[in-house]
Amino acid sequence: MAATHAAKVPESISCERKYMLLVFTDMYAINSETQDLLFAQARTASTFSNAPVSDAQIEALYELAKWGPTSMNTQPMRLVLARSAEAKAKVVGHLFDGNKPKAEMAPLVVVVAADLNFHETLPEVFPIFPGAKDMFADEGYRTQFALSQAWLQAGYFIVGVRALGLAAGPMLGVNTAGIDADLLAGTGLRTIMVMNVGKPGDNAWFDRLPRLDYSRAVTTI
Ligand SMILES: Cc1cc2nc3c(=O)[nH]c(=O)nc-3n(C[C@H](O)[C@H](O)[C@H](O)COP(=O)(O)O)c2cc1C
Repeated sequence: MAATHAAKVPESISCERKYMLLVFTDMYAINSETQDLLFAQARTASTFSNAPVSDAQIEALYELAKWGPTSMNTQPMRLVLARSAEAKAKVVGHLFDGNKPKAEMAPLVVVVAADLNFHETLPEVFPIFPGAKDMFADEGYRTQFALSQAWLQAGYFIVGVRALGLAAGPMLGVNTAGIDADLLAGTGLRTIMVMNVGKPGDNAWFDRLPRLDYSRAVTTI
């Protein structure tokens, strides 16, 4: 097996990646180009080109990302596209200073939010359990649930951005309460993060940071 895959592995890639391709390639149901696009070679972008990101692209990625599973099919993530100059300026105004230039440069800035009233959709999206909505009468429990499941979907969203050949720049360096008050008042949405989306620009990457290896992240009990 090693000899077959060795022929496909470019010299320039890291030892870690070579090892992975040589040892694990036959275990994946997706080819190495797709693995690279979605995970191994995908990076977090800090600069962006001015190539626009269209609504059709965001719709295409949502059509993939929406299939990612959530508990009780709750799907609380909402995406708010800050398209107008006014909306974008307001979002940028709530970012930590180090994040402002990245968002100003990005062709699209997205507020990723959780819908705290997601339970209203449960009769439609979880009809197999008619009492589902009532489980979320308590606001504190509902809020925690909305946040956790929106975060889960945010991960699918990042992978969806990569599936379009675009780069994501997620940012938690943001005054989320400020965005909620300024842009989302009365909507029932709560900001969880802001994400830049676009084609990477010049010097878009920081040096790759190490990941924890398998033995530190996985235990068997
Ligand atoms: C939820 C989340 C929040 C992040 N917040 C910020 C941020 O506020 N500012 C920033 O420069 N990078 C931020 N990052 C980027 C991470 O530092 C980066 O994704 C990580 O170091 C991995 O980089 P890589 O994908 O290039 O390997 C954030 C990433 C995630 C997923």
